Amino acid sequence: MDLVKEIEKLKKQKDAIILAHYYQVPEIQDIADYIGDSLGLAQKASEAKAKIIVFAGVHFMAETAKMLNFQTKVVLPDLEAGCSLADSCPLDDFIAFKEKYPDHIVISYINTTAAIKTVTDVVCTSGNAVQIVESFPKDQKIIFAPDKNLGGYINRITGRNMVLWDGTCEVHDILSTESIFQMKEENPDAELIAHPECNAPVLELADYIGSTTGMLKYTASSPSKKFIVATETGIIHQMQLQSPGKEFLVVPSDKTCSCNDCPYMKLNTMEKLYLALKNEQPEIILDEKTIEMARKPIERMLEISRELKLI
Ligand code: 13P
Ligand code: SF4
Repeated sequence: MDLVKEIEKLKKQKDAIILAHYYQVPEIQDIADYIGDSLGLAQKASEAKAKIIVFAGVHFMAETAKMLNFQTKVVLPDLEAGCSLADSCPLDDFIAFKEKYPDHIVISYINTTAAIKTVTDVVCTSGNAVQIVESFPKDQKIIFAPDKNLGGYINRITGRNMVLWDGTCEVHDILSTESIFQMKEENPDAELIAHPECNAPVLELADYIGSTTGMLKYTASSPSKKFIVATETGIIHQMQLQSPGKEFLVVPSDKTCSCNDCPYMKLNTMEKLYLALKNEQPEIILDEKTIEMARKPIERMLEISRELKLI
C-alpha cells in the first residue's frame, strides 16, 4: 500500500489535518500540514478549522490541542507516546509540593499532564519560557515545574530564585559534555546549539540555547557552516532541508551510543498515522471540567506570547 497516497486521500475525504512535532520521523514531517515546536503547534491547534486533528507528537501535546480546540476530534497515532517530564510530575505529589509554598504562583512547562495544568497559573514552552517568567515582577515568588534544567537555566539568566520541581527529560538530560568536548576538538569550526532541557554543564558550553524552532532559525541565519546539535535527532531533517549546504553533527548521549531519539516521539509511525486517520482512533478524550480549568493557563500563555509578539 502506498501510505503517502492513502493518507493524502483520507485527509481530504475526512477534512483532517496533520500537525507534527520536529522530533517525528522524516516521512511524517514530510506529509504534515504543519510542523513545529510545542508553542507553534499549540497556536496552530487553537486556530485549526478541520474536523479532525491527527497529532503526530506526544500525549501532552495532543491534550493541549484538544483543550484549545475542544469541538474538534483529536487523534494520536500511539496513545503510549508519553513524556518523561510529564510522567515525573504526578498530580498528588505536585499538590503536596505546592502546599509547602503557599505564596508562590505556578508556572508549568507545557510538558505536563492536563491535571497539572488545572493547578497552574500560566503555562510556558521552551520558546517563550524566559519571557513568560519575566512578565512577572522580580519579587514574585514562583514554582517552576517540571523541568529543573529549563527552570535552572531561567534562574541563572534572569537572576531569579524560582523553586524547581525535580524533573528532567530523559533524552536531553543524558547528553554528555565528554562527547561535546571531543566533538568540539575534532570540529573547531562548529557552533554548539542546545535545547534548554539539557543539563547545566552542556548549556554552559553552548553558543546558542533555544527551542527547536529557535535552533532551526539560528542554523538557517548563522554564517557558520557546521553545527554540533544537542537535542533530539528529528530536528536534523528540517535543518538539512532549510540549510542544504551546512553540516549538522548530533551529540551522542555517551561514547557508545548516538541514539538520542525520544522513545515516545518515535512510537508514531506512518502505519499508525494511517490507521489513526482511517479509524479516527485513538482519540484524546477529556472531561469538560478538566478542559475548562486546564485551558486557562494555556490561553494565558498564548495571550502573553501575542502581546510580546512571540507568535
Ligand atoms: P519544544 O518546545 O522545543 O518543541 O520542545 C518540546 C520537547 O518536548 C522537547 O523535548
Ligand atoms: Fe518529553 Fe524529552 Fe521526549 Fe521531549 S524529548 S517529549 S521532553 S521525553
